[in-house]
Amino acid sequence: MANQDFQSFLDEVVMKNDIVEIISGFTVLKRSGSNMMGLCPLHNDKKSPSLSVSPDKQIFHCFGCGAGGSVIQFVEAAMNLDFMDAVKYLADRVHMEMPDKRSGGDKQKQLMASRKKERLYQINARAARYYFDQLSTPEGRPGLEYLKKRKISNSTIKKFGIGYAPEGWSNLIDHLKKQGCSESDMYDAGLVRKRENGTYYDAFYDGRVVFPIIDVRGRIIAFGGRIIRDGTDAPKYWNTPETMIFKKKDNLFGLNLAKNDKSGRLLLMEGYMDVVALHQSGFGNAVASLGTSFTSEQARLVKRYAPRAVLCYDNDEAGKKATLRAGDILFDEGVKVRVLTVTDGKDPDEFIKNKGPDMFAVLIEKAKPLIEYKINEIREKYNLNDVDDKVDFIREASAVLARVKNPAQREIYVGKLADELKISADSIMSGITEFERKNDRIEARRQENARLRQIVRRESAGTENARGLYWAERMLLNQMCDKQVMKRVKENGITPDDFICDPVHRRLAELLFELSEKGVCPEPADLIGRSLPEDAGPVSDILMSDKNIKDKASACAGPIETMMKAKEGRLIAGGADDDEQLMRLFEKKKQRKL
Ligand code: GTP
Ligand code: MN
Repeated sequence: MANQDFQSFLDEVVMKNDIVEIISGFTVLKRSGSNMMGLCPLHNDKKSPSLSVSPDKQIFHCFGCGAGGSVIQFVEAAMNLDFMDAVKYLADRVHMEMPDKRSGGDKQKQLMASRKKERLYQINARAARYYFDQLSTPEGRPGLEYLKKRKISNSTIKKFGIGYAPEGWSNLIDHLKKQGCSESDMYDAGLVRKRENGTYYDAFYDGRVVFPIIDVRGRIIAFGGRIIRDGTDAPKYWNTPETMIFKKKDNLFGLNLAKNDKSGRLLLMEGYMDVVALHQSGFGNAVASLGTSFTSEQARLVKRYAPRAVLCYDNDEAGKKATLRAGDILFDEGVKVRVLTVTDGKDPDEFIKNKGPDMFAVLIEKAKPLIEYKINEIREKYNLNDVDDKVDFIREASAVLARVKNPAQREIYVGKLADELKISADSIMSGITEFERKNDRIEARRQENARLRQIVRRESAGTENARGLYWAERMLLNQMCDKQVMKRVKENGITPDDFICDPVHRRLAELLFELSEKGVCPEPADLIGRSLPEDAGPVSDILMSDKNIKDKASACAGPIETMMKAKEGRLIAGGADDDEQLMRLFEKKKQRKL
């Protein structure tokens, strides 16, 4: 299918799926002028509605998180789908048949990429099989003994597909070569590493127990290897680096099993070993992040499978720090988080060995809601019989409570504190409100600063008023779908190259000019469909920020003037080469059609 046909297919999909109807499935929209507003379901928007949807233009934009675009980008973000799956979802919804994909060249490229990915999955599966089989060979004995020492049963080994990579530089390479795999595929799967002279060696060469990392669709995407020898300088774990099929921040170890758990609660561990030990003891809902700190992508993944999470991190300073970080991330994504404190042993794995699964179940039940946990941690630092300490404690606790946006939830905690400290709830509440105002001010200033910084960055030589130019470009881009406006722009000799404040401006201008050459009068949603995916947010921002101007052609006079001035400035600063162009410009200026 030619590019053009696919584009018109996309246009039709967008046209037939009303954006207001789709977004209303995720949040309540209320009319506000010509737009609809609502709390943004793409970030944790609890306070004031920051999502704005234009029924006329069929686009959306959130000024909180910056997301925006047509109905396709919304479905991508809200349902966590990739572009083609979002299109498919929307096409199905209106009973349209998906066409055979894209242009010849794209199709070829896509086919190559998907074949490559398939090969990487297959190669990982073969490697996993190899590592697993090693446990029953003489070379693999040390691995099996290590797992037995860690009290991991045969059925757990099988369930997780745990294996062993014996010491040696090319055990895996030799094995996979015999099966017809290429070294470059092994390299791209992250299974082997490259020497400076271009030859390859096994990634796990120093005797490691190997844990396959399996995605929710059951495919092996990576491996984590734990060294079994004591007293080496080698890192305890070595994990597959990022590959075509492995993005650390998007996956959780054990989720392929835990996703089937019915408790509505996931237990978040720090270590692979903790996850394995917990599953073996009947806690089928344990998962771990992959050696990196917890990410908001992982929080969203958690949320997709369970509304509640219990953080079960190691009982040391590093673990406590990580708990607070992960806790805030989960809380901000709207997951109900509790924090479990391991009381015997350094981590859940040791606790279970010391105390048994039943006692661990008690720990889970005793886990404190994140806010309570944080306040308890603060309380530990102070002597509440001391007046100064007490005041400091209230202040720190109020800072924590200022993050709690749910009024009922906040009131409950305030009530508890008031009872405990024998002071009025009102005085605590007013302290919190003060923090909140301060936070809002800080946030507002941060956003304003970010905006100003962007503008300053865009400031280019010879432009005396970068800020004015920036807004002029945006204003014009917003209006250029209009034929009359486009005509004026062209009459004044403005070209896409004159949109200099932002690469997005220039790309959007190019698109508008190109469509205008073809005599097409584009709809905002089409423009987004034809923009780069990463431009969808900023482009929707530009297209939505009009002020319901009636007479577009005369409203564009000011911005055109600003852009012309800037262009003159640039040409003057540019020197002799541009003389001719400069003359033409002055000619134009004399007869400017404004
Ligand atoms: P054991 O010490 O065998 O009980 O392992 P564990 O799974 O409990 O690991 P630990 O609590 O020490 O570390 C938590 C997680 O951090 C591990 O599961 C790994 O994902 C990661 N990790 C630990 N050490 C290293 C390391 O040296 N390198 C890398 N890349 N990751 C590590
Ligand atoms: Mn451990």
